[in-house]
Amino acid sequence: MTEGRGNNAFQQRLASLLKHRESVHQRRLRRCVNAISTTECLIDGRRCISFATNDYLGLTRHPDVLTAFTEAAAEQVGAGASALIAGRSAYHVRLESAIAEFEGTESALLFPSGFAANTGTLMSLIGRPDAVFSERENHASLIDGCRSSAGKLFVYSRWEPDRLDDMISQQRANYEAVFMVTDTVFSMDGTLADLPQLCEIADRHDVTMIVDEAHGTGVFGATGRGVCELQQVDHRIPVKIGTLSKAVGNLGGFVAGSTALCEWLWNTARSQFFSTALPPAVCAGAIAALQVIAQDSERRRTLGARAKFARACLREADLEVLTAPDTSPIIAILIGDDDLAVRVSQLLLEKGFFVPGIRPPSVARGTARLRMSLCCDHSEDQIRSAVYQLREVIRNTRR
Ligand SMILES: Cc1ncc(COP(=O)(O)O)c(C=O)c1O
Repeated sequence: MTEGRGNNAFQQRLASLLKHRESVHQRRLRRCVNAISTTECLIDGRRCISFATNDYLGLTRHPDVLTAFTEAAAEQVGAGASALIAGRSAYHVRLESAIAEFEGTESALLFPSGFAANTGTLMSLIGRPDAVFSERENHASLIDGCRSSAGKLFVYSRWEPDRLDDMISQQRANYEAVFMVTDTVFSMDGTLADLPQLCEIADRHDVTMIVDEAHGTGVFGATGRGVCELQQVDHRIPVKIGTLSKAVGNLGGFVAGSTALCEWLWNTARSQFFSTALPPAVCAGAIAALQVIAQDSERRRTLGARAKFARACLREADLEVLTAPDTSPIIAILIGDDDLAVRVSQLLLEKGFFVPGIRPPSVARGTARLRMSLCCDHSEDQIRSAVYQLREVIRNTRR
């Protein structure tokens, strides 16, 4: 029976579209996942060790972060308005200053999410006479931002820098301003952008660099400023976008850069001022988390060590790990077949390990994979057991 409001034809159309998705193995499950700790969760009543979050530094449950959040939440929950109208409280102002100080920039501007920061920034910077060169495997929010901007979009591959250089040389004169946009850590395989190389190309052709440090902030660099710090290009990146929802353990997006950049975005980025501001308590939590990141580098070191350990275990188990730096906390284990990736992930779940299967369209056809995301709180034992079970499950399903 087709249920729901509205006309029947509409409901039937949805049912048939969903059926088609199911037949091509692209229908997504709506799971209920309750976290018990930074590394364990309950899924449908089953206790699992989770390798599925972006809580790389375990800050979603850090006592300082919890205290800051709870004290502020006792006063108010929602911001009640967009930042432009009445939603920008003293917590928001303090968080913007804290981000600017952390990033070493003149200024910073908050957005309701990392997704909104990416779409809003790209749409407001790239105008009709402009062009943008975007990496093929950039996050969906960067892709959407480029597509929704008024400028011309060119797509490049990070594995072909010479071709990128050629493309820009051929096109540069046709556009007023040209931008290059890249993730610094690619979320589907944990690889890093080669930022010095991209900056060289950008400098040669008078191109403005925009980077998304969503998975880099807190994780890479001596003080946690991400891949820009690790690769020593901070001073060459005029537009740095980040999120507070991953290693920072909270919610929200930001742009860090010059006062002029932040003022321009404050005036023009629609996803910022046509959306309610972050809850003040989230800002309080994020300020505390940035302090932990600045003061406690041990978490970052442990995370890197766990990532190395996991890769060594996976290699020893003869599993095909996609190449990425050893300390990257995102590890992709190639499966290939879409169905098999989902089956392996499900069987692993039944053994008490949550390692999501990733299929097209999130990744290229034929490259379905399991993605293991690490937290500094994972123990070597948890990692070893997960890899052991993964090897067993893959062996048994391929037999
Ligand atoms: C590379 C990248 N950029 C941006 C985002 C969006 O960030 P948020 O979850 O804060 O909206 C994500 C989230 O998955 C991401 O992986």
